[in-house]
Amino acid sequence: MCGIVGYLGSRDCTSVLMDGLEKLEYRGYDSAGIAVFEGKEIKTVKTRGKLSAMKEKLEIEGRPIGHCGIGHTRWATHGEPSDVNSHPHSNGRVTIVHNGIIENYAELKEFLTEQGYTFLSQTDSEVVACLLDYYYSERNPGRAITETIKELRGSYALGIIFKDFPERVYAARRGSPLIVGVGEGESFIASDIPAFLKYTKNYVLLEDNEIVRLDAEGAKFYDVHGIPIKKEVQTAEWDIEQAQKCGFPHYMLKEIHEQPDVVQKTLDSLVKDGVPDFSEIGLTDEMLRGVHRVFIVACGTAMHAGIIARYAIEKLARVPVTVEIASEFRYMEPIVGEGDLVIVVSQSGETADTKAGLELAKSLGAKTLAVVNVKYSAIAREADMCINTLAGPEIAVASTKAYSVQIASLYLLAFRFAYARGIILESELKRLTAQLCKTPDAIRRVIAQEDECQFIASQLINTETLFFIGRGFDYALSLEGSLKLKEITYIHSEAYAAGELKHGTISLIEHNVPVITVATQSKVLEKTISNMEEVKARGAFIIALCRRETTFAEGTVDLRLNFDFGGLDDMLVPLPTVCALQLIAYYSSVLRGNDPDKPRNLAKSVTTE
Ligand code: M6R
Repeated sequence: MCGIVGYLGSRDCTSVLMDGLEKLEYRGYDSAGIAVFEGKEIKTVKTRGKLSAMKEKLEIEGRPIGHCGIGHTRWATHGEPSDVNSHPHSNGRVTIVHNGIIENYAELKEFLTEQGYTFLSQTDSEVVACLLDYYYSERNPGRAITETIKELRGSYALGIIFKDFPERVYAARRGSPLIVGVGEGESFIASDIPAFLKYTKNYVLLEDNEIVRLDAEGAKFYDVHGIPIKKEVQTAEWDIEQAQKCGFPHYMLKEIHEQPDVVQKTLDSLVKDGVPDFSEIGLTDEMLRGVHRVFIVACGTAMHAGIIARYAIEKLARVPVTVEIASEFRYMEPIVGEGDLVIVVSQSGETADTKAGLELAKSLGAKTLAVVNVKYSAIAREADMCINTLAGPEIAVASTKAYSVQIASLYLLAFRFAYARGIILESELKRLTAQLCKTPDAIRRVIAQEDECQFIASQLINTETLFFIGRGFDYALSLEGSLKLKEITYIHSEAYAAGELKHGTISLIEHNVPVITVATQSKVLEKTISNMEEVKARGAFIIALCRRETTFAEGTVDLRLNFDFGGLDDMLVPLPTVCALQLIAYYSSVLRGNDPDKPRNLAKSVTTE
């Protein structure tokens, strides 16, 4: 969490840093700040609040004028969001921005206090500025950095400027991402590529324990001992348009609308001659045949994608699948090992718990497969094999298009799994794949029902608590619908397997409590309808998401959203249906006056435990 940027070049540094921070605001938005060299002096402007507050502060205090500087957008870990806890932090001759957690900050602080340093903030980050100053001697910033990082425990991506060197930016990382943008006569550092995509598509990935120095000659790279190293310059596949709102009021709405295209793109990349083909990533039929058990390890929405995958893989390939919350998996001493396939799912590829789950699974001898949207992320690079989903940059904190591409690729995996194990024939593999390839059109049709979703949202305007229910794939989808709604509307919401409600939770149903019922699965439709009637009898306000042709007894349903899935297999309808749930959440959030892109207390990329 937290986003860092840095710039050295001939442009107006304040504009470059502020543009970059806007692209990184998804990583945290409780405070922001920049530090820019104005001649030989460093001018720092920082404030509690979103970037909009920072813009106001710049108007009041004056924009720093210069060509070299660093910036930060924060998600607080140590110390409340406040002006003083905002980054950059300075001490002595050093100013830094930091993303990550310094685990041994308390002992370092004690040591530095004994050396006469005083601290202004409650952050763990300020000790890094002090420690750098402590090790800075003989005008040698490189040595100050190598000495300092030897002492740090935990994770960090650091942007550093030294008062004595107004034409340099340094950066170092371990555990937190840091990318170096390589432009013509200018260089950048950033937590993610969109921060500098407007200026250059060329980038270098900084690995753990590496250091970079930006100066007039460009970017120079060093290992942990300060020895120069060569790094490969890569070219980003993302375009700047993908990281902009393009006329939509929010990133979330834009990303919902992108789903037909990104699902199509992801499917195109994984389907060859009408069948799923994972040979390019080294996942062969032989390997799939040898798998005894599958574990899917992930967090939040990615974990919900895993639950859909579980239903699909077990149904088709008859392999046992367990879905684990990554933060539990990593500490539960799981019984995992050779013969098991551990699939980690992550949009960002940075989520700390998912990454730890991956490392644990590898150490226990399991084969690991990542399903990741950010190709250059740590998880993508650490897993034995990686399916790179093609959602493009997802900037809204609430995950939408990433979920869709995750489930699209996991369906393909389920199909191939079933074929590899001899459970379905090639003809069925082709039929299922062709069905999945029809989902972008079905998604388009549901998105065209945006007004109806907005109307449903308007009926929830005074709601304080609600429930989602469904069975099978509908239940798996309800979990995601409920998370989406609560994270951006702050309505208390719970998702239940429809048959489970009467084992306790039904006591919470009273007059007018909305129950959003996802009822698309024919096999369990009658059962779901009975559950709807049970809650209706207790006064619930029922909103049904169902096929156009589904009928209910008179008076059961208060509002319904009818879908035309165009003959899709039941198993695949979560793909279009989720778009309606996302739109209902989005409009409920907007109608309540919230910012759906930046819900309170959250950040997109959870790089701390
Ligand atoms: O980047 P990841 O997919 O690993 O992130 C996992 C969760 O933090 C993420 O899905 C989160 O639940 C979203 N905010 C949900 O919209």
